[in-house]
Amino acid sequence: MRRSTLNLLRCPLCLAGSLVPLDDVADTTLAFGPARCIGCGAQFPVHEGLVDLGGEREGSGIQGVMERPFFARTWDRSMRPAFDALLTQGRLDRQREFELLATFIGTPTGPLVDLGCGPGQLLRRLARELTGHQVIGVDVARPMLEEAIAQTREHGEAIDFVRAMVPPLPFVDHVISTVVAAGFIHFVADFDALLRELARVLKPRGRFVATTWEAPRFLRSLHGSAGFYPRTEDALRQAAMDAGFIRFERVKVSPFIVWKVELP
Ligand SMILES: C[S@@+](CC[C@H](N)C(=O)[O-])C[C@H]1O[C@@H](n2cnc3c(N)ncnc32)[C@H](O)[C@@H]1O
Ligand SMILES: [Zn+2]
Repeated sequence: MRRSTLNLLRCPLCLAGSLVPLDDVADTTLAFGPARCIGCGAQFPVHEGLVDLGGEREGSGIQGVMERPFFARTWDRSMRPAFDALLTQGRLDRQREFELLATFIGTPTGPLVDLGCGPGQLLRRLARELTGHQVIGVDVARPMLEEAIAQTREHGEAIDFVRAMVPPLPFVDHVISTVVAAGFIHFVADFDALLRELARVLKPRGRFVATTWEAPRFLRSLHGSAGFYPRTEDALRQAAMDAGFIRFERVKVSPFIVWKVELP
């Protein structure tokens, strides 16, 4: 956990301040030991480069399944590729998705955040290929983050991780250049709140780039009861415009939609 990343974080309790190492050492990285909110003094565990702002909670519905260690170990290697192949009949795989996301991301001009980063395959590739800036993965599932950290260490990539339940977003205002969310926003019940948070943490002209799932109308209410909230393209665009975003662009590979908006 780099000091420069700690400085971007917002305390989930007092919603102010940045975080600093408890013992204010000169090091530029903090591997272990609590971080402290400079606003209210609350302390948050830091372990292997992960700062834990998520507290104790248990996921339910589909999210509960995503928090099982088996899911974290197999998601990137087999489950996600199998879902993509099955649902798109081979029209979208991880390579094609990366290319679409990378086109929409362009050249980041500051920190890049991956929301719902899971075991981190996309995030690690973004860190390698796209940015010389801070790269930060956010997820609420401990097993997912543990797998992401193990992979990142094995491959020597410089990525910081934050455990947090989103929304709200665990960052101070207007410090992030790009937020990516692949396979994440359909887990968020209050999408308007997420967009308001994105508009708060992104810098002017900052981008939000996402892959999500546009379910057929007859499945939508069923999904909601399982903790799954797919939206139509029109709903995505309208909600983003209402939150102040502009320049909606998208590529549809049914049932997925890869899309991007930016702040003025
Ligand atoms: C389907 S996985 C996607 C992982 C990865 N981004 C990918 O493209 O394969 C969704 C991830 O979002 C996380 N997640 C779901 N709801 C969340 C929330 N409200 N806050 C933080 N993470 C969440 C889950 O723990 C899971 O790791
Ligand atoms: Zn605080």
